[in-house]
Amino acid sequence: MAIRILGTGSYLPEKVVTNDELAQVMDTSDEWISSRTGIRSRHISIADTSTTMAVKAAKKALEDGGVKPEELDHIFVATLSGDHATPSTSCEVQKEIGAVNAVCMDLNAACSGFVYALNTAMAYAKAGMGRKMLLIGVETLSKIMDWSDRSTCVLFGDGAGSVVVEADPSRKIYIDAGSDGMKGDVLTCEERHLNNLLVKDDSPMQQVQMDGQEVFKFAVRIIPKSVNKILDAAGVSKDEIKYYILHQANRRIIEAAARRLKEPIEKFPMNVDHCANTSSATIPILLDEVHRNGMLKAGDKIILSGFGGGLTWGSVYLEW
Ligand code: UT7
Repeated sequence: MAIRILGTGSYLPEKVVTNDELAQVMDTSDEWISSRTGIRSRHISIADTSTTMAVKAAKKALEDGGVKPEELDHIFVATLSGDHATPSTSCEVQKEIGAVNAVCMDLNAACSGFVYALNTAMAYAKAGMGRKMLLIGVETLSKIMDWSDRSTCVLFGDGAGSVVVEADPSRKIYIDAGSDGMKGDVLTCEERHLNNLLVKDDSPMQQVQMDGQEVFKFAVRIIPKSVNKILDAAGVSKDEIKYYILHQANRRIIEAAARRLKEPIEKFPMNVDHCANTSSATIPILLDEVHRNGMLKAGDKIILSGFGGGLTWGSVYLEW
């Protein structure tokens, strides 16, 4: 049993902040940001929350897939920036869209989160536990950035992407996923101190902190390795792959992955220029853009691949 994508949707907050606008409030420049990352602008939330963005993306995916909310048996939301510890973002989405029959769960694998959500949906489909499932990657990273750290805050944005999937025995899907907690300290956020009756620790919560160069090296090494692994597992040659939809963190990472895979850069659609890095949302947002631009037809073979905090990584081979 595999799964097939019935519909996609995405949502980006209205407010666009350009590199030049950032340069007015911090010591940076469009030249530095765009030459090192390919990012020109990002969307930043003013009125939206993770829940409102997730709901808007989900409604579009359901409409695109012709699926009614009550048909959903599961909602999986990948996020590291939900609005509350509880209720989960998935339960909030359930309430807003009226998916009364869904079992709802959030999962956090940072920028690999959407691939992990697909992995979970596939496992549920295989186990006969899931038939129609809604998957969402959503982040309001602007609320957890250290806006005084120019080396990190310029890289990220807010947004949501969603797909609705159906269990389908006729399709092939292969997934590779991995984690390396031993190297987790190169990308961290919001240390939660003990602060109880016995221990007092009022030190401020940490925001996103990253050793950019270490993450860069990890990404360039792990993406081709993981992609080659699923190509082998699927018995599919690179020539047969129409697109590689990679996590949109940095244009240079994607170009390096393309070189190492010996694949033309044209097979790697990108939107990092106008979305920046929206963590677990990058892959479904880009997939939605590609689909809505009419770039995919039934049967096309594509690969999705993500990497990020944890450290985590994951790739999926699927047939459109
Ligand atoms: O989802 C995964 C998320 N993580 C990532 O995607 C991170 C991957 N890593 C990267 O994308 C790159 O490592 C960065 C874009 C973060 C950094 O690029 P780099 O070429 O590795 O630059 P660097 O860290 O070596 O910094 C070079 C210089 C430093 O100045 P000095 O010490 O050479 O004088 C920084 O202080 O650039 C300076 N710098 C900046 N200058 C202007 C750092 N941030 C900025 C900035 N504007 N925003």
